[in-house]
Amino acid sequence: MRVLVTGGAGFIGANFVQQTVAERPDARVTVLDALTYAGDRSSLAPVADRVSFVQGSVTDADLVDGLVADADVVVHFAAESHNDNSLTDPSPFVQTNVVGTFTLLEAVRRHGVRYHHVSTDEVYGDLPLEGGERFTPATPYNPSSPYSSTKAASDLLVRAWVRSFGIEATISNCSNNYGPYQHVEKFIPRQVTNLIDGVRPRVYGAGANVRDWIHVADHNTAVWAIIEAGRVGETYLIGADGETSNLEVVRTLNELFGRDADDFDHVADRAGHDLRYAIDATKLRTELGWAPRFTDFRSGLAATVDWYRANEDWWRPAKAAVEARYARGGQ
Ligand code: NAD
Ligand code: TYD
Repeated sequence: MRVLVTGGAGFIGANFVQQTVAERPDARVTVLDALTYAGDRSSLAPVADRVSFVQGSVTDADLVDGLVADADVVVHFAAESHNDNSLTDPSPFVQTNVVGTFTLLEAVRRHGVRYHHVSTDEVYGDLPLEGGERFTPATPYNPSSPYSSTKAASDLLVRAWVRSFGIEATISNCSNNYGPYQHVEKFIPRQVTNLIDGVRPRVYGAGANVRDWIHVADHNTAVWAIIEAGRVGETYLIGADGETSNLEVVRTLNELFGRDADDFDHVADRAGHDLRYAIDATKLRTELGWAPRFTDFRSGLAATVDWYRANEDWWRPAKAAVEARYARGGQ
């Protein structure tokens, strides 16, 4: 099977490529990645001799057309992915997330290739902190940020291309991922690398916001389950019952570093900060028989901390610039 992975040098894409090479000897993987600030070829170093790498943008219609023509399945991870950045400059989010998806869909339509669209639960907006409500595939779209609204727009393009042009596509909307190779701008790697540097964790606002954490390896087994057995035109929500408040995350990290659990700083809140995300993954579990392997968040976090301790060469080059940017916003 020839698999074209967009965004394969990013966090989830690189984990997906490494897992695919390790577990699927029949897969021939090509990565298309623009190597933005978020992409890092060294994330693919362990499988470099098993993967074809093309540097380029998903908005480049000629390049995309040739690569899609040579694929049996396209798995589309490439995106601008950070909410905070989308508040500073939404423009690349519209280009990559919306125009890039459109460009891929047109190539998929021309060449009749199977397409899987990787998206986020943030398209649904947020949930109240209290009450136990969860997102389902029937929840109306209600995105809050430039990031989530461009992901929502891209999902709607996919649905329209299925209905109007009959392309063979599936969509997944996953909750917050953690694990190795995540950029230091994101919440968990930022705090872990701060703690390695002896800096107190930083929580936006009061810290009551809840995210439904899933290990990246579990996200990727779900993506493969959908590619192999998902019904064309369907949306699957991916989540592993990992609801945790930001306060609980930093307390656990402090404990893993042998520090006082409550030794952290509150910093400026994010504009429009979503309160709570929570996924009902019943459809994925019952229809496709998927189940997560990382069910203990604390031990998954401990393994992630170990990875960042052992791979300082990977994250150190990006750290100072990320912290300088946060400092400018009082965070
Ligand atoms: P990331 O920012 O770590 O990686 C994005 C990758 O896309 C990078 O390698 C970057 O170089 C590449 N890229 C950016 N613009 C590109 C372009 N125009 N053309 C080609 N490549 C380009 O992101 P991630 O966290 O790995 O997220 C991957 C996908 O998963 C995204 O679509 C995101 O919306 C979705 N998602 C992420 C999470 C999460 O918790 N991180 C949760 C649910 C869904
Ligand atoms: P993030 O990793 O940016 O993911 P998302 O915005 O997609 O949920 O942030 C996760 C949560 O952590 C979110 O509620 C914002 C919060 N946060 C902090 O409290 N401190 C930080 O330094 C960062 C980067 C995020």
